[in-house]
Amino acid sequence: MSKLAGKVAIVTGASKGIGAGIAQALAADGASVVVNYASSKAGADAVVERIAKAGGKAIAVKADVSKADEAQALVDATVKEFGRLDVLVNNSGVYQFAPLEEITEEQFHRQFGINVLGLLLTTQAAAKHLGESGSVINIGSVVSHITPPGSAVYSGTKGAVDAITGVLSRELGPRGIRVNSINPGMVETEGAHDAGVIGSDFQDEVVGHTPLGRIGQPDDIARAVAFLASDDSRWLSGELVKAAGGYR
Ligand SMILES: NC(=O)c1ccc[n+]([C@@H]2O[C@H](COP(=O)([O-])OP(=O)(O)OC[C@H]3O[C@@H](n4cnc5c(N)ncnc54)[C@H](OP(=O)(O)O)[C@@H]3O)[C@@H](O)[C@H]2O)c1
Repeated sequence: MSKLAGKVAIVTGASKGIGAGIAQALAADGASVVVNYASSKAGADAVVERIAKAGGKAIAVKADVSKADEAQALVDATVKEFGRLDVLVNNSGVYQFAPLEEITEEQFHRQFGINVLGLLLTTQAAAKHLGESGSVINIGSVVSHITPPGSAVYSGTKGAVDAITGVLSRELGPRGIRVNSINPGMVETEGAHDAGVIGSDFQDEVVGHTPLGRIGQPDDIARAVAFLASDDSRWLSGELVKAAGGYR
């Protein structure tokens, strides 16, 4: 399939987890992909290698999206390598869970810095290059609606992502650029393992409320992102799409 042939995409935080799955899916659909990472060079290189082995095109670019100069450098490197930019997937994200009494300034600034400021800075840099039929896809989370206990900061960042998706769809729409969010439920990733949610009682509770009866895998999310990246979704903008097997 080549529904993204000729398109150039940046996927932030694509060295592992959901981002790696998205990078591979966009490349399989024909896009040239920039695999962004902050520290996991080996992971990003492995994703690039898998894409190349499957006949796709990709490069790895290091950038901490929460820093304006690095977000700008990520976009510059993309345009230098591939000559254009059509799709931005704002996937980079971190999550730390803590009840109210344990929230620290450091946790707050880290999560809002990457999940919210990083998304804004990367989109700001990318918007200068996105043209008619450009697509920005933000990775939110169902937590913005489910609001589980112990997630005030993380759910706060994803609530902000929902709102920003709406605002930017209005700001960029007149230029033909669409802005949507995919809001996953629980997905088995390196990050989810590290956070201790995989194999926890919380996972059992989520699966119990999920009509499709399991948690997600990165490729489940990647398929939905590939649709929003393509012109098949040309009349969708400002949408918050839950990708959670029916969990809501
Ligand atoms: N897993 C879930 O259950 C779930 C559910 C809903 C939503 N989400 C969202 O999905 C996204 C990906 O989550 P995941 O579970 O796949 O996480 P993950 O396995 O921990 O991967 C996170 C990715 O983000 C990158 N990253 C971290 N800080 C960065 C920074 N400052 N600049 C650029 N990249 C940075 C990491 O790169 P390095 O390794 O190089 O640092 C890594 O590639 C996040 O936005 C998360 O909130 C996840």
